[in-house]
Amino acid sequence: MSVSPRNSLSAPEIVAPDGGLAPSTPSGPLGGATTTASQPASETASETARTASGTFSAVDETGTGATPRHAADLIVFGGTGDLSMRKLIPALYHCDRDGRLADETRIIAMSRGGLTDADFRGKVDAEARPVPEGEDDEGWQRFLRRLHHVSVDVGGSDRSGWGALSRLLAGYEDRDRVFYLASPPMTFGPFCREAHEAGLVTPHSRVVLEKPLGRDLASARAINDEVGAIFDERQIFRIDHYLGKETVQNLLVLRFANAFLEPVWNSLWIDHVQITVAETVGTPGRRGYYDHAGALRDMVQNHLLQLLCLVAMEPPSRNDRESIRDEKVKVLQSLRPIVGSEVDRFTVRGQYAAGDDVPSYLDEPASTPPTEISRRVETYAAIRAEVKNWRWAGVPFYLRTGKRMPSRRSEIVVQFKDVPHAIFPGATPNRLVLRLQPSEGIHLLLMAKEPGAGEVALRPVPLSLSFAETFQSRVPDAYERLLMDVLAGNPTLFMRRDEVEAAWRWIDPIIETWEGSEALPEPYPAGTAGPAGARELLARSGRTWHEEDL
Ligand code: BG6
Repeated sequence: MSVSPRNSLSAPEIVAPDGGLAPSTPSGPLGGATTTASQPASETASETARTASGTFSAVDETGTGATPRHAADLIVFGGTGDLSMRKLIPALYHCDRDGRLADETRIIAMSRGGLTDADFRGKVDAEARPVPEGEDDEGWQRFLRRLHHVSVDVGGSDRSGWGALSRLLAGYEDRDRVFYLASPPMTFGPFCREAHEAGLVTPHSRVVLEKPLGRDLASARAINDEVGAIFDERQIFRIDHYLGKETVQNLLVLRFANAFLEPVWNSLWIDHVQITVAETVGTPGRRGYYDHAGALRDMVQNHLLQLLCLVAMEPPSRNDRESIRDEKVKVLQSLRPIVGSEVDRFTVRGQYAAGDDVPSYLDEPASTPPTEISRRVETYAAIRAEVKNWRWAGVPFYLRTGKRMPSRRSEIVVQFKDVPHAIFPGATPNRLVLRLQPSEGIHLLLMAKEPGAGEVALRPVPLSLSFAETFQSRVPDAYERLLMDVLAGNPTLFMRRDEVEAAWRWIDPIIETWEGSEALPEPYPAGTAGPAGARELLARSGRTWHEEDL
């Protein structure tokens, strides 16, 4: 999830802490507890200090998503922004409601908004309440009391806001302290440096970085270096909210907790894989961000490549912080580079034109008029990727994502090959569909005989698992899971530095070719299935995109 870049980072205002929630075990002053990149992980990672104090649970090495039970301070930079109000606040409320936040945990929003705690609570109450009035009123009031606001001018000359934050955090140095940067990537380095200079980075601190991390390999490296100068890699949580989605986690369970799939999970049995993230929304009000991102940086470099990794990775030896990420990096490193003239053959980009009652990308409401950059940015991307290893040789992975599609649909489709020897006419190959949206579930299309005497008539029928129906419980939002993982210190579902950089390494030549080309993205009317080129990308090998509802 991204947020629109802001014109300046923040405007200063000192907000006096209002007392809020008091800690049960306040401890002494900070006393030089900041971390430097040169310290070995064992000295800087928070589990050492926690185990020694006996106050905190150890970092979760199991990858099973432990619930954090100790009090923490969660500091959200960009705390009044779109991501925070739409996703983080509702997710934290649900965690609180489920009893997964310690009583004393505080949520401190940082922004240039110049709000008091009371103002911020009022804003959240008015704009971000996830349940209607009358439902859980007491719980909602309890949740609001966790909220604080501090105005900080990151990147500016006025450091008084950091003083206000220091006072709010004073006495709570032994708590887990999470800095969540829900802000544009160019703020990550300055934020970490200033937090460090203000003496706020403790051994118990972690930092969460929202995607996209940079805009190419070089900028991603620079940001990683800047953040890495203050935080140890084990303290850095690079978030991709797709990894917190139930179906995505279930993909790992499906593949590695069931025996039947593994023998057929390879090029002998699988014809191709399709990964689709189609959205009906456009980009109203987001041009400032989207003009400089486009579908490739906004969705493919992160969400779609992460999904590809989970489909293609080898079975990890353990479900722990490094084993899964090690396997994902190997997939990214095995992606066949798409360079030069191949970019035209294996990729398609489009931009939505006006549709029925819907403006074109260029006519979307925005604070600034469209520019040449706006005309060139893609709101749709499709790519034919290949994983060059023994398991996947010759199996295309088709990726596509677009705004203003006819329906909201995110899914992974694993298309199996025909049976080796057909004895029934009319049989079609099996297909496994992992649906992330609109309703999370898994569907395996099998051939079955239609009931009746006479000729054998075949029909593909889905063997379906709907999470909502099967488990009869609310499917949590991806951010709930990921926020709890950060508070518990479990990085398994977060991207490691080498993963992010390997993804950029593969994306960079495509971006360079697109940006260097005189051709504009192919237009498609809003509300339609994308540019014709995307259909041709598959048609060339006699394949079609999966468009069925299940
Ligand atoms: C974000 C992108 O990361 O993911 C948005 O920045 C996109 O452009 C969003 O709309 C989609 O997330 P989800 O969970 O709604 O599929």
